[in-house]
Amino acid sequence: MREKKPFYITTPIYYPSAKLHIGHAYCTTIADAIARYHRLAGDDVFFLTGSDEHGLKIEQKAEEAGIKPIEYTDKIVASFQALWKRLNISNDDFIRTTQKRHERVVQEIFRRIYAKGDIYKGEYKGLYCTPCESYWTEHQLDENGCCPDCHRPVQEVSEEAYFFKMSKYQDRILAYIESHPDFIQPVSRRNEMINFIKQGLDDLCISRTSFDWGIPVPIDPKHVIYVWFDALTNYLTPIGFLDDPEKFKKYWPADLHLVGKEIVRFHTIIWPCILMALDLPLPKEVYGHGWLIVDGDKMSKSKGNVVDPNLLIDEFGADAIRYFLLREINLGQDGNFSRDALIQRINSDLANDLGNLLHRTLNMTLKFQDGVLAAPAGESDVDRSLKADAMATVQAFADGMEAMKLSDTIKTVWAFIGRANKYIDETAPWALAKDPGKKQELANVMYNLAESLRIIAVLISPFMPQTAERIWNQLGLAAAGKAWADVQLEDVETWGGVPAGLHVGKPEQLFPRIEVEKDDAPQNIKAAKPKKEKQQKADKQNAKKEELPAGIITIDDFAKVQLCVAEVLACEPVENADKLLKLTLSVGADAPQRTVLSGIAQYYQPAELVGKHLVLVKNLKPRKMRGQLSEGMILAASDGKALKVVEVDMPAGTEVR
Ligand code: MSP
Repeated sequence: MREKKPFYITTPIYYPSAKLHIGHAYCTTIADAIARYHRLAGDDVFFLTGSDEHGLKIEQKAEEAGIKPIEYTDKIVASFQALWKRLNISNDDFIRTTQKRHERVVQEIFRRIYAKGDIYKGEYKGLYCTPCESYWTEHQLDENGCCPDCHRPVQEVSEEAYFFKMSKYQDRILAYIESHPDFIQPVSRRNEMINFIKQGLDDLCISRTSFDWGIPVPIDPKHVIYVWFDALTNYLTPIGFLDDPEKFKKYWPADLHLVGKEIVRFHTIIWPCILMALDLPLPKEVYGHGWLIVDGDKMSKSKGNVVDPNLLIDEFGADAIRYFLLREINLGQDGNFSRDALIQRINSDLANDLGNLLHRTLNMTLKFQDGVLAAPAGESDVDRSLKADAMATVQAFADGMEAMKLSDTIKTVWAFIGRANKYIDETAPWALAKDPGKKQELANVMYNLAESLRIIAVLISPFMPQTAERIWNQLGLAAAGKAWADVQLEDVETWGGVPAGLHVGKPEQLFPRIEVEKDDAPQNIKAAKPKKEKQQKADKQNAKKEELPAGIITIDDFAKVQLCVAEVLACEPVENADKLLKLTLSVGADAPQRTVLSGIAQYYQPAELVGKHLVLVKNLKPRKMRGQLSEGMILAASDGKALKVVEVDMPAGTEVR
């Protein structure tokens, strides 16, 4: 039997700079499903989420609203907590970085590391992105000299600041990552981090004097602690770092920090270095999940495509949203949210497959057996195969959840739901009911179906906790004294948990079918309506993707990129952008000319490029840079020091394959 153990899981603590959107809900739902699985498996789970409330951006937002920062964050954080309640998130604690308990921890950590000599006062000169609250070095900026994360301009700042000697830990953290293959998941993120560290780690600026909204540096209160040092240490606060050594010993090191891929770096480099300085063990695993995009596009206020999870819950219920997010997207990869795909999943997987199985089972039990499940006796081949499939599904569920393959696990459970539906067709209970000689056979079939549903209820509970409980209750199990709250995975590891003589309850519809009417979508989630086949094709492609090793693409993936020869007709520098050149390109006599902005100004004089035949990515989405539209990208080879554009001696417009 699997050993039961403490299990500490965290989500990022979210910025209360705006209301949460479906991307945040995605991350927290994943964590919740994993936490619920571990509780089901008998582990002693501590599941933490929270809010990251300090920093210049929040200070500015509060100022704009004419209120104190804490008044501002109180309100938004209340909306976070309300959302998690509606989504049935089972967190054991909610940490706010503005809480006194956290301030004590951050200041104590600062004191300890300072006393050790790993924090020193210096002068910070750097490039700061206010919206991301991140400092960047010159070589980290994007091709336009902007923030590599949000692509907005950065500001040069210079101020007295405290630094954490991260460089001291560079070799240790690299050795740790290299010798602990499971520490960073998925593996593609691990490779990125190894490369990042190999470029050399700078010491980390951990204080600011240019704003007040933060935790004061204990030895020098005109400084406040810079957000990431404040934020990352949140993981230690609620598990008794300062006040409950026993609890701390139980839950630290964390089993899993689940984070979005864009903050893996903070969690696998900065955070471990802080922990090493504190002589604390490192978290066992950091998992960087992919990003949710909406109808193929990144969510943004300006595009007006930010999806509000509250509106979705109003319309479809929490479990349908949870199911969709966990089923549709493979954990390490980016995934798409679309209203059509959501409705399709609700109708086919939930209303049809799951809803019908429950409905048919309960209805037939009521109709053919007065609602009572008689004791089974004997078994046919098809009964035996159903039971074997059920037990194999329970095993596959446990293996899949341990490996955090949530989408695959759901598919496995749904394959069993399909199997049970097929069992009804194979055994035809309505025919058995007509034959008095087949009474026991009928009883066996109805028992096996109810038992299958009992198992299914337990296996879907991490993903759809409300639905799972509803099925349990409709089967009559709660009324028969089997409290849902006490159910464990062990209870479905053997067949036969439905007590003979059980009175099943009345069937109630789990998920009504959603009739799709054109243009009925609320504005914020209105979607282009892909055809069913399109969805199936996307599914197939997703399935294919899963089988590929990290970093490998298919020929179909590559075929999406359209390349052609482009002749440079004119080239000029771009005002206020040292790195950019503006190229006017011909892509064939009949085609309109294109303008492309390219970050190659350090390597070429404009005149050198005129007349060259380059390779252009033709179907890249046009993008505004420095107020000008760039319609494509030219290819160049670069080793980080030198750069050469790719030249082809063929006429403009020639396809490159
Ligand atoms: N406050 C920091 C985290 C500090 S953790 C010590 C922060 N906050 S955030 O509000 O920006 O939330 C970041 C997290 O929200 C991401 O890491 C990711 O988990 C989740 N997501 C935000 N947008 C998302 C998508 N579009 N898709 C999926 N998840 C996304 O960074």
